[in-house]
Amino acid sequence: MKTSLSRDGYSQAGPIAPTVMVSCVDSAGKANIITLGMYMPISHDPPQVVIGVSPKRYSYDLIMKQGEFVVNSPGIGIAEKMHICGIKSGKDTDKWTEAGLTPVPAQKVRPPLIEECYGHIECEVVNMVTCGDHTLFVGEVVAASINAECLKDGKLNLEKAKPIAQKNWDYYTLTK
Ligand SMILES: Cc1cc2nc3c(=O)[nH]c(=O)nc-3n(C[C@H](O)[C@H](O)[C@H](O)COP(=O)(O)O)c2cc1C
Repeated sequence: MKTSLSRDGYSQAGPIAPTVMVSCVDSAGKANIITLGMYMPISHDPPQVVIGVSPKRYSYDLIMKQGEFVVNSPGIGIAEKMHICGIKSGKDTDKWTEAGLTPVPAQKVRPPLIEECYGHIECEVVNMVTCGDHTLFVGEVVAASINAECLKDGKLNLEKAKPIAQKNWDYYTLTK
């Protein structure tokens, strides 16, 4: 038997989404972090990813005007820090201090990497598409790095990385 879902409840019928922490900077180079469920690789050659950001977010203007962002992949051990970055705004608070996160310089872009995350994808914005109440920023990957211990035989070691998946703000990790 199937249960029908309302128009607003449709997300229950979709998969659990990976969750990322995106770092970005303002014109003075001050960095912010935003938690996003809307993330997806979108092209292999050239490598491109897409993130969905509401124009209501403080980070929206930073990404649009500076044209750069870093997708940082958190493990379940920092779920609480990730949540703080998803409920507080950089216009009111310094989330690096509030969540206890450490910025480290990126290789190719101005937004810093989040040291506590296991993986980092540095991106330059190459396209934008408005989709209803969110904007998709397409980012071309200009550099990427991962904690060495989170790789096993060239693949992501789930037991070490413990990536976060999310549904309606409930956080899970993945096992094989
Ligand atoms: C688990 C989770 C997922 C989220 N996903 C998104 C998303 O995909 N897009 C978005 O615009 N906001 C998303 N948010 C909300 C923003 O992270 C939140 O509004 C944040 O406070 C914005 O920060 P800022 O004002 O510093 O940019 C999410 C929040 C959480 C907790």
